[in-house]
Amino acid sequence: MAIISSKKHPPEPGKKPKSKREKAKSSPPNENLLQPQAAKDEEGKPEESIRPQRFADYIGQKDLKDVLAIAIEAAKSRGEVLDHLLLYGPPGLGKTTMAMILAAEMEVNYKITSAPALERPRDIMGLLVNIKPGDILFIDEIHRLSRMTEEILYPAMEDFRLDITVGKGASARTRSIPLSKFTLVGATTRVGALTSPLRDRFGLIQRLRFYEVDELSQIVLRSSKLLKTPVSDDGAAEIARRARGTPRIANRLLKRVRDYAEVKKSGEITEEVAGEALQLFQVDPCGLDWTDRRMLSVIIEQFNGGPVGLETVAAATGEDTQTIEEVYEPYLMQIGYLHRTPRGRVATPAAYKHLGFKPPNEQLSLL
Ligand SMILES: Nc1ncnc2c1ncn2[C@@H]1O[C@H](COP(=O)(O)OP(=O)(O)OP(=O)(O)O)[C@@H](O)[C@H]1O
Ligand SMILES: [Mg+2]
Repeated sequence: MAIISSKKHPPEPGKKPKSKREKAKSSPPNENLLQPQAAKDEEGKPEESIRPQRFADYIGQKDLKDVLAIAIEAAKSRGEVLDHLLLYGPPGLGKTTMAMILAAEMEVNYKITSAPALERPRDIMGLLVNIKPGDILFIDEIHRLSRMTEEILYPAMEDFRLDITVGKGASARTRSIPLSKFTLVGATTRVGALTSPLRDRFGLIQRLRFYEVDELSQIVLRSSKLLKTPVSDDGAAEIARRARGTPRIANRLLKRVRDYAEVKKSGEITEEVAGEALQLFQVDPCGLDWTDRRMLSVIIEQFNGGPVGLETVAAATGEDTQTIEEVYEPYLMQIGYLHRTPRGRVATPAAYKHLGFKPPNEQLSLL
């Protein structure tokens, strides 16, 4: 397990302790508890034990569940396979989990792969010819498929057929091999990057949204039961508020707070214990991490609150534009700290307040 430095160095003589604003400028922490992407050791067994296995355990995402429940029932009653399904949304919201649940509910097998592992045509061909009737093939990061792989998928998705070209030049002929009927579940954080022929072949296209605090609280309570850690309702809510609307982060914070409660306290996670632990781990009360804070403070301090171009924001934080757009901005917009306008990004008065700046209209009224 990674060790978090909990030592607080006393301020050097003559130096004032860092203010709220200055903290946002300091260098990014080495370990980031608020990253929505899975850490390397997280996708192993321990995370699996708290991953919901059935529809009933999957908390929140009501719209998605309603649509899928109907699709499952209809497919089952007709004895057909489920329509191809595309799930999109920021990392850690439960796309892979939902694909596994679909397989469990349909009582079929699933195979999980991701686009970068399907670079050569024979990778996808191998998977397709071995598929059994009704199976679910899950392709993560589907926007990253190579063109050749995508072209093999078109007839496979549409007519359950694999077209193979034999020979070269004038003597080349196409042979078709029938495939078992299957369901393709694609997941992506960038639906806009999918080619339209691929997107059009999905019967169902569903977006996952950030979770509300009460939904995340339920997730924390459920996980804590499985981890056999006592958590009070307000302890769960305290963790939920700082989890950036993301179940993966909520579970990660729960595990860290559990360690703290076991070592420092009686073991039960109350609101106070959770608050203390998360403050120690430097998790912001709204779930902002270093990059979020840096983005907002650059917009506020250097550009009067915006509008600022994406490239500028990216340069100031050292993140690439894509990560900013897919990972950071969706959450900041969700909590109302950032607006996207045609002319660039704008920090809202709520962001000013959170970072300890005076909102622009208040500044004006002082003049
Ligand atoms: N609705 C939910 N209810 C309870 N727990 C959830 C839910 N959704 C996700 N989780 C938890 O969050 C973790 C991350 O979910 P998952 O791996 O499905 O995310 P993802 O959307 O596939 O992320 P990525 O884009 O990084 O692949 C899971 O291990 C699971 O324990
Ligand atoms: Mg996933």
